[in-house]
This record gives sequence, C-alpha cells and structure tokens, in this order.
Amino acid sequence: MRKEAIEKILRMKGKEKISVLTCYDYSFAMAIEGNADIILVGDSLGNVVLGYERTANVSMEDMLRHLRAVRRGAKNSLIVADMPFGSYENSKDAIQSAKKLIENGADAVKPEGMPGIVKELNKEGIEVMAHLGLLPQSAKKFSLVGKLQDDAERILREAKEMEKNGAFSIVLESIPAALASEITRKISIPTIGIGAGRECDGQVLVLYDMLGLYPNFKPKFARSYMNLKEDIRKAAADFSRDVKKGNFPDDKETLG
Ligand code: KIV
Repeated sequence: MRKEAIEKILRMKGKEKISVLTCYDYSFAMAIEGNADIILVGDSLGNVVLGYERTANVSMEDMLRHLRAVRRGAKNSLIVADMPFGSYENSKDAIQSAKKLIENGADAVKPEGMPGIVKELNKEGIEVMAHLGLLPQSAKKFSLVGKLQDDAERILREAKEMEKNGAFSIVLESIPAALASEITRKISIPTIGIGAGRECDGQVLVLYDMLGLYPNFKPKFARSYMNLKEDIRKAAADFSRDVKKGNFPDDKETLG
C-alpha cells in the first residue's frame, strides 16, 4: 500500500492538488479517512492536544501513542509521522527513530530540515516528507522565513537537495508565496504549503485550526471551517443546565 500510495501522490503533481490534514486520535482519524490525501500525525500534537508550549516538548512516547491511535482509525490512509525533536540528531538515531515510527503505523516520516538525514533514511528504504522554511522545533520566532535573498537561495538549494536525497514531498512552511511558487516549478516532487501561498502542489492544515478548536495561536493562513470551540462550549453549558434542572436523563434515556 505504502509504495502505491506514494507513487499516486507523486503523480498528482501538476494535475491535482494534494490535501493534507493533521490528526492525533482514533475518532478524528475515522472521520478524516477518505477525505484527505495524506494524514500527518504532526508534532503540533504538543500544542493543540497536550498543551505544551512548544512542539519540541513532544516525546517519542507521545508520538507513538497518538500515531497508533490514528492508524487504528485510518487503516487505509497514507500516514506521515513527525519525527520528534532530538530523535534524528545523527543518522543512527534517525534510522532507529524512523523505524520505530514505521513499526507503529507510519508510512513515512517527516524530520525538519536536515537534507543529510533525509538521504540516510532514504538509503534505508524509509519514505520521507521533508520540511523547509519555518522549522517550529527549533525556530526562535514564528514569522515569515526567506524574505532575504540569502535565505531564499538557501531554501531553494535545500529543496533541490531534498529532492536529490529521495524525499517524496516537501512541506514549505511560512515562506513568501513567490519563493514557494519558484520551488514548486523547479523540483519534480510535490510541495505542500502551509503559509506559503496557493501555488504549492498541495496544502496542509492543522486539524484543530480547521475545526476552530485551538484559540491560543491563530496564524493568518490557518482557515477555520467551523467554530467547534463555541459549539462545544454551548453543548457543555446545555448539558449542565439539563442535569441541574433534572431534565437529563429523560424517560427514553433511562434503562429499565
Ligand atoms: O506538526 C505539524 O502540524 C506540522 C505541520 C504544521 C506541517 O508539521
């Protein structure tokens, strides 16, 4: 399945846009299966589910537990797992960590930056989604990257290197739309944008942003398709009111 699914993603470049959604648990995975081309078990898990300050706080144990849950809910999806911060400092660690993620349900892994590590993983037959531009695990501030010519040239150079080193796709995060467009034209593997304009081959969105469930940090590019936080708040208040008034459970909800 893995090889075929990845070949399908490669064939989509220039023909059909690729949708990628993050996911962290079983029930959401069941709802997303069939409705996104790729599921990313992102380390945004740390921010939106676990309440950590930074994605760098996500451990391998955190990642494996949530990855297994997503795989149980989305048996037929192409699943990419983020490599936790500190788990791919050298090729030995990277290979060991990536193998753990694959054994626990991932079809491919995503480290941030590190073209050399991508090459080593590829040599082991591990599929890699690369990640360039803003790299949240190590970023000092969360703003547009690649405005300066030197940075833009470096990102373009690294994108070509990722392609040469065997990545099957590249996430481009928070870079100017014109740079993302140039990279998309100059490499043969799909680019997946987040805050990188509409010319990328695909787009990734953090699930809790799509649902309107995570109010702490709302970048301009994070489109919400609903306001689930408000719906949950209202449902919880309605439930509490019914309990206090003795309206819940009613006769139909009473067993025997
Ligand atoms: O962890 C994540 O959600 C990600 C996306 C922002 C690409 O890496």
